[in-house]
Amino acid sequence: MIQVEFQGVGKTFQTGNQEIVALDDICLQVRQGEFWTIIGPSGSGKTTLLRCLAGFEFLTAGKIYVSGHQVSAPGRDRMMVFQDLDQLFPWRTVLSNVMLALKLAQPGTTPAERKSLALDYLDLMGLIEYAHFYPYQLSGGMKQRVAIARALGVKPSVLLMDEPFGSLDAITRSGLQKELLRIWHETGVTIIFVTHNIEEALLLADQIVVLARGGTIRAVVKNVLARPRSTKNASFTTAWQHLHHLLEQSGYRGQPGTASRPSLDPRPLARPLGQATL
Ligand SMILES: Nc1ncnc2c1ncn2[C@@H]1O[C@H](COP(=O)(O)OP(=O)(O)OP(=O)(O)O)[C@@H](O)[C@H]1O
Ligand SMILES: [Mg+2]
Repeated sequence: MIQVEFQGVGKTFQTGNQEIVALDDICLQVRQGEFWTIIGPSGSGKTTLLRCLAGFEFLTAGKIYVSGHQVSAPGRDRMMVFQDLDQLFPWRTVLSNVMLALKLAQPGTTPAERKSLALDYLDLMGLIEYAHFYPYQLSGGMKQRVAIARALGVKPSVLLMDEPFGSLDAITRSGLQKELLRIWHETGVTIIFVTHNIEEALLLADQIVVLARGGTIRAVVKNVLARPRSTKNASFTTAWQHLHHLLEQSGYRGQPGTASRPSLDPRPLARPLGQATL
């Protein structure tokens, strides 16, 4: 079943006299339960694509449908996890952060029901013993796990993730990738995940969208690597090189004719050193 559909989506920002085309004629069909990653140069519209799907931005062209309903505003069927490690309320404990999200999403539930549900999701993320910690007492990886638990607690049909592991060290990142895959299998939630990292895209996704400068789709690559995936396989290296090639053609490193915003992140073009097996 098609769960998320982009039909000719465009988004142009107006800043002063300047028009910035962030997304141009995006057409995508994501099936229920699939894992998609979005990859592309800085400024190619990855975050904007997620924000449009989340209902945070008005479209300037086209339509987005989720489960057959046109997106016109934020909704609890689409929860977003950000890169920012400080997306939790600092004055609330881990448990209280998750419970608050549940309260907003399911106002009819009792505090006891919310506590029980929140503890279930913290357990799912391996955080049960940190339930009464405050965000400042957690590592970056733990904070992101809480943010994921909080988003999942709302039982979204689509989980939107904008470089959620981008500022974590390689080992923590690899651990969280494994956990995310486990949770994806356990919950069946559809995931759309933005990353700058080719290896991460290949380890996680069923389908990889390569965006180009100007907010167009350069390619949609079906990831046929068998799960569990290993970066050590020759087929992984071949897939990595293919994506790398597509990204080079998509406007990395300020190629002529590309948008004015420079790429500040050289990571995607560096062959990752990790040897993760997922
Ligand atoms: N609120 C805004 N107002 C004006 N322009 C914006 C706004 N948000 C994004 N843009 C522009 O839209 C384009 C796409 O931005 P976006 O943040 O979606 O890119 P991105 O692919 O997520 O980049 P990065 O990899 O750096 O996170 C950029 O040119 C950006 O400057
Ligand atoms: Mg972004």
